[in-house]
Amino acid sequence: MSGDARTTAEGLAYLSGFGNEHSSEAVPGALPEGRNAPQRAPLGLYAEQLSGTAFTEPRAHNRRSWLYRIRPSAAHPAFTRTENGAIRTGPFTETAPDPNRLRWNPLPAPAPGTDFLAGLWTLGGNGDATQRAGMAVHLYHADTSMERVFSDADGELLIVPERGGLLLRTELGLLRAAPGEVALIPRGVRFRVELLDGTARGYVCENYGAPFQLPDLGPIGANGLANVRDFRAPVAAYEDVEGPVEVVSKFCGNLWTARYDHSPLDVVAWHGNHVPYVYDLRRFNVMGTISYDHPDPSIFTVLTSPSDTPGLAGVDFVVFAPRWLVGEDTFRPPYFHRNVMSEYMGLIEGAYDAKAEGFVPGGGSLHNMMSAHGPDRETFDRASAAELRPQRVDDGLAFMFETRWPLTLTPHAADADHLQRAYDDVWRGLQRHFRPDPPQERPV
Ligand SMILES: [Fe+2]
Repeated sequence: MSGDARTTAEGLAYLSGFGNEHSSEAVPGALPEGRNAPQRAPLGLYAEQLSGTAFTEPRAHNRRSWLYRIRPSAAHPAFTRTENGAIRTGPFTETAPDPNRLRWNPLPAPAPGTDFLAGLWTLGGNGDATQRAGMAVHLYHADTSMERVFSDADGELLIVPERGGLLLRTELGLLRAAPGEVALIPRGVRFRVELLDGTARGYVCENYGAPFQLPDLGPIGANGLANVRDFRAPVAAYEDVEGPVEVVSKFCGNLWTARYDHSPLDVVAWHGNHVPYVYDLRRFNVMGTISYDHPDPSIFTVLTSPSDTPGLAGVDFVVFAPRWLVGEDTFRPPYFHRNVMSEYMGLIEGAYDAKAEGFVPGGGSLHNMMSAHGPDRETFDRASAAELRPQRVDDGLAFMFETRWPLTLTPHAADADHLQRAYDDVWRGLQRHFRPDPPQERPV
């Protein structure tokens, strides 16, 4: 299947722009003109609305799409419970929230025959999926393309590939997401993940809260950070498949399965703004100081899920993309920090400029609410003594899921063999430099 997937993934067409009212039809004439639900939809299709926000949410936040499909989604048999595997969902109550700094190595290789869904491994999370508040951090590893179809009623899925490209066949069309790119699958949208490189590994932020949006730019102006047009949405593409297809739905923390007699990826045309996206993180327009001090890393926000409190995100997705450091008289790596927000960091490639070693691609670190973190000793010593010439930071691509509530681990993350047991040692040996006596004036 990966050969077919690779061929399919080449030269995919996309629509451009985050939040646009896109429209697309795989067959000319499939999209009705002038109304959403004509008495008879074109080409014998069924019209169906997919609502990602309440009908009455403000226009600026409203998300919905109209789908024109071979069969309506309602035409399905009963779902029955199936195994959740290593997937867990908020509320997370199986371990005590841990104030320690924690860091993991990458997931071990998957068991043969593991698809994306079977390979989802929940690290932890917060909030409550039934309250549509909070988030979960998952990792995934897979060596097999999905043949079944998945959808998540509990939240949207921000997929961050670290190893191996993915072909995402969604109800609204096809997306390719390679390492360095991210894919965003809206709540409830059905999709299948096929592997382009034999194996795949990466991260997923499951956002139970308000859909991700682009952050406001304030004094930055009308452009910058993640530019709107760089988000690519699929064009309509459909499967006309009669025959058994397993469809798995995640609902309030559990997986449910049903055996359809057709593929539910049968949307021939659609229009709306509740759509999946892919975004290349290397297109991020990085802002930073051109005078002094390291700005707060919120300046690196790609997408934010707002809460009811202005400026307080349920979760922010933040990227540390290649950039120049030019700050004068400035400690240039990320500063020592205690944060009311909780920070999960992952690494897509290379190294991160606050950690000399131990933070590896596919691994991750968790600095929960108010835990003290910052550069390791080696980084501190080096950055404190460095000559402050303009410096290009381009040897890594790290990201952060920064969330308003502490993350509680799953038991399998708290006890994982790949949990680094000596992460605290990173900050051992930070020397005392304090000299209470002011330096003596040297005689001229
Ligand atoms: Fe921090």
